[in-house]
Amino acid sequence: MANISILEPIMLVFLLFLLSYISIANSTPRYTAVDNIPLNCGSVGNLTDGDKRIWIGDMEPSKFAPIEERNQKSVTSEPQSQDSSIEPVPYGTARLSYSQFTYVFPVTSGPKFVRLYFYADSYSGFDESLAFFTVKANNKFTLLRNFSASILANYSGELTRTLSKEFCINVEKDQKLNLTFIPTPSTASSRFFAFVNGIEIVSMPTYLYYSSEENQRRPFDVDQHDQLLIENSTALEMIHRLNMGGSSISPNGDTGMFRAWSQDSPYLLSGGVIPRQPNLELKYTAIPNDTAPDDVYRSAITMGPNITWNLLSNLTWGLPVDPGFNYLVRLHFCEIEPSITMPGQRPFIIYIDNKTAAPMADVIMWSDGRDTPVFQDYVVMIREMRVDQDKSTLFIALHPGKSTNAIYDAILNGAEVFKLSDSNNNLAGPNPSSALLPSPPPAQQPGSTSNSRKTRFIAIGTSVGLFLALLTLLCCVVVWKLRKSKRYGSYYPVSKCWFWSDQNKGKSKRTKASSLPEGLCRQFSLEEIKTATRNFDEELVIGVGGFGKVYRGFVDDGTMLVAIKRLNPESKQGPKEFWKEIEMLSQLRHVHLVSLIGYSNDEREMILVYDYMSNGTLREHLYDTDKDSLPWIQRLEICIGAACGLNYLHTGLKHPIIHRDVKTTNILLDENCVAKVSDFGLSKEGQDDKAVSTMVKGTFGYLDPDYARRRQLTEKSDVYSFGVVLFEVLCARKALNPRLEEEQWNLANWARKCIQNGTMGEIIDLNLLGKLAPNCFKVYVDIAESCVRDQGSQRPTMNDVMDKLSFALQLQKEADVAKEKVNPDGKETYTEVLSFHVSDITETRRCNNIFSGHVSESNSGTWLTSNNTGMTYPSLDSDTVKCEDVFTDTSNVSKA
Ligand SMILES: *[C@@H]1O[C@H](CO)[C@@H](O)[C@H](O)[C@H]1NC(C)=O
Ligand SMILES: *[C@@H]1O[C@H](CO)[C@@H](O)[C@H](O)[C@H]1NC(C)=O
Ligand SMILES: *[C@@H]1O[C@H](CO)[C@@H](O)[C@H](O)[C@H]1NC(C)=O
Ligand SMILES: *[C@@H]1O[C@H](CO)[C@@H](O)[C@H](O)[C@H]1NC(C)=O
Ligand SMILES: *[C@@H]1O[C@H](CO)[C@@H](O)[C@H](O)[C@H]1NC(C)=O
Ligand SMILES: *[C@@H]1O[C@H](CO)[C@@H](O)[C@H](O)[C@H]1NC(C)=O
Ligand SMILES: *[C@@H]1O[C@H](CO)[C@@H](O)[C@H](O)[C@H]1NC(C)=O
Ligand SMILES: *[C@@H]1O[C@H](CO)[C@@H](O)[C@H](O)[C@H]1NC(C)=O
Ligand SMILES: *[C@@H]1O[C@H](CO)[C@@H](O)[C@H](O)[C@H]1NC(C)=O
Repeated sequence: MANISILEPIMLVFLLFLLSYISIANSTPRYTAVDNIPLNCGSVGNLTDGDKRIWIGDMEPSKFAPIEERNQKSVTSEPQSQDSSIEPVPYGTARLSYSQFTYVFPVTSGPKFVRLYFYADSYSGFDESLAFFTVKANNKFTLLRNFSASILANYSGELTRTLSKEFCINVEKDQKLNLTFIPTPSTASSRFFAFVNGIEIVSMPTYLYYSSEENQRRPFDVDQHDQLLIENSTALEMIHRLNMGGSSISPNGDTGMFRAWSQDSPYLLSGGVIPRQPNLELKYTAIPNDTAPDDVYRSAITMGPNITWNLLSNLTWGLPVDPGFNYLVRLHFCEIEPSITMPGQRPFIIYIDNKTAAPMADVIMWSDGRDTPVFQDYVVMIREMRVDQDKSTLFIALHPGKSTNAIYDAILNGAEVFKLSDSNNNLAGPNPSSALLPSPPPAQQPGSTSNSRKTRFIAIGTSVGLFLALLTLLCCVVVWKLRKSKRYGSYYPVSKCWFWSDQNKGKSKRTKASSLPEGLCRQFSLEEIKTATRNFDEELVIGVGGFGKVYRGFVDDGTMLVAIKRLNPESKQGPKEFWKEIEMLSQLRHVHLVSLIGYSNDEREMILVYDYMSNGTLREHLYDTDKDSLPWIQRLEICIGAACGLNYLHTGLKHPIIHRDVKTTNILLDENCVAKVSDFGLSKEGQDDKAVSTMVKGTFGYLDPDYARRRQLTEKSDVYSFGVVLFEVLCARKALNPRLEEEQWNLANWARKCIQNGTMGEIIDLNLLGKLAPNCFKVYVDIAESCVRDQGSQRPTMNDVMDKLSFALQLQKEADVAKEKVNPDGKETYTEVLSFHVSDITETRRCNNIFSGHVSESNSGTWLTSNNTGMTYPSLDSDTVKCEDVFTDTSNVSKA
């Protein structure tokens, strides 16, 4: 009680402070543009628009009067159809010319918004159907080409004939920004002209959309599975800027950059539910507070409470775009539903352009908490499909993800889509040519008011009491955060990994961390790690290697189970490998790779924190174990998963990554027995197709003899090791077992000998006897054998292995179905495989000391359904299993 009475006054002071702070925040925008030039073309002096913003006229003596060709003067005019519903500023007047004219804006260096406003109408002496022109910026970027506002307005389906275009252009030091309007060259029959009603130049923060030194943000390339830079030599065109689930926001409601935000409802293809928290106080601890207006984050679209429905559908938006360009897609998120407080409660998959952009999106994990805005950037190429096609649709789709406490839902608060200039610095697409277009983005008028169509809200309001309670909570959190971690102190944490070096102040290391992608990697304090591992309690050790020990532990107040790898400072894996592993793992996102959650580097410790794989290593399920034997189908699925993961390492990235230590203890199984490849500590990126020559590393029994001889590391070395894994899975035998007769020591060699002698069936796992469909068995043994061939060049690629294993799985499933029909009670087995001689191996097994009571147990069990672990597992029914399929399937797991 005493504590509370002391705390209360402090809280009150804080509350008052915050409240006063909030009212200030509401009245002044978060960002003040250094350059802010709204230019009203065709008028004299200053005019005020509906939002009380002052626009400057471009007619003499204005300092922004355009530069024209000497004998071809432009004229100024008013539109012919005087529509009273049109905002007079900037649409009430225009500048028009049959020859080119240039506006020159003296501005500071850095990125600028350039907005062009057009009213598609005829002006005295100028017929709207003859307005065709090109707009260039700084003689470099083509913003519009042979542009016709009239055609666009005719096809837009909107009643209003006003249009606006927004671009982002970087201005270098000592440069001016100039905009040139060039009429399309006239023909014998027509004389074309150019016109413009309004121009706006507004500065933006350098970190807003471009990647730069101090901004560690790297959009994720959905096609290349890689991190990208948006360099300042790129020009952007805003195509869509949407406030999901909210109303449109006028330029004055923006954070100071006069961006207009529209409603998403015209583009939402599926149903959705709208949570809204209109007064919610947001915590800008993950992104700068001027990224988007608060109202963008205070509303969202979610799927709703019907889990059955959610698992069967996607939350999809279809956004019309020009094909043939790269697009930057920025998705804004903020978890605003009070019941969602922990990572794993609302995980979801993000598809962009029907490709997996994020297999495990989790807003709480990205933002580190509720009410905390965060965004993610993706880049996707929209290809040209047909010659006659001038608009495509970019789909953004969300699908519920899976975790133990998941509510099977997804959320999106806002989205921005930008077209990126191509290699010719062009942003212009063709004029629309058919009436069958999807409706283009609704034109935003500056000065349009925000409250338009407000419908179908399921608003979750907050009463004043709850609001105050939240504020109090916010105070506590703020105080606690400030005290607890210094990493949020100085700079806005665009990237959490950015802050790791604050503790050791190493400058060189800071630059290194700069290559770490945003939001994927979290820093733990040594305290947190010590608490999680009970000060590195030996009882919690789950693995030991040359690098050090791996512990099991809970973080986040016991809510999240993780694997903690503590690197031995004396181990050969030095700081270099440590950073390499962080860098690499945080860039790799794949359902069949173990994900890195974070790291700790306090007091020179090198600690990596991974997802905990509750089902341990693959080896634990094969031999020397008291775990139940894995059914054959499940073994195949695990092998396919691991092959997918390796194939991704080999081919999914710009530089292939060679794992170098593929073995059954580095293939881990999660709670659903989905295989995840782990341990990239020894991995090495392959450079340009050339083989990587280094010291021989790896594990005996799995080591590629070709590599050991020639010291030339290629992806095929991983293929060899994977072949050994395949034999291990089939035979439940160690890769190297010196307790056996010498010729059997090395499993790969022995298996090859057995294959030559036609006795392979004799050394398979006894638990599998009678359960292998003969044709599946044959395909499987073929694959395994081809993987362990002596010469790397004779071995298949991981992609081949993946495909063939999927084929083997299909054969097994077909055979099982056929057998089920004739033999519904499942007693009968595949006799062909049974007919292999078994007598000898039992002997081997005995001296091998591998099996205890398993044989009889599994002999009596019913095959195929003997999945005693009760695990749910993705079904792989499709003909060829590609990694994407596995992605999707994992998400659909546990429909039952
Ligand atoms: C926004 O963030 C900046 C930089 O962190 C800070 O200086 C400013 O006070 C913040 N403004 C508001 C209204 O929170
Ligand atoms: C017009 O506005 C600009 C900037 O807002 C200001 O500098 C200028 O003095 C104004 N001119 C007139 C004639 O009011
Ligand atoms: C643009 O990027 C280049 C290279 O990163 C940099 O040198 C330059 O300063 C940047 N320009 C501006 C205005 O930020
Ligand atoms: C757009 O429609 C208007 C009215 O029907 C027409 O006068 C105009 O010529 C059309 N524009 C073009 C470029 O065809
Ligand atoms: C426009 O800018 C470009 C590049 O800065 C320059 O070469 C050109 O002379 C400028 N044009 C005018 C009319 O100022
Ligand atoms: C949930 O969705 C399923 C599938 O569309 C539907 O059959 C069911 O009636 C829905 N349940 C409720 C309570 O609306
Ligand atoms: C969701 O969208 C993705 C990408 O387009 C697609 O592969 C998947 O089948 C969709 N899922 C459902 C349930 O519609
Ligand atoms: C992409 O997804 C959308 C929406 O689900 C669907 O309509 C479209 O057919 C898909 N396109 C392809 C090529 O699969
Ligand atoms: C300009 O666009 C119009 C309408 O799309 C087209 O008919 C014409 O050929 C184009 N002209 C040039 C020079 O591209």
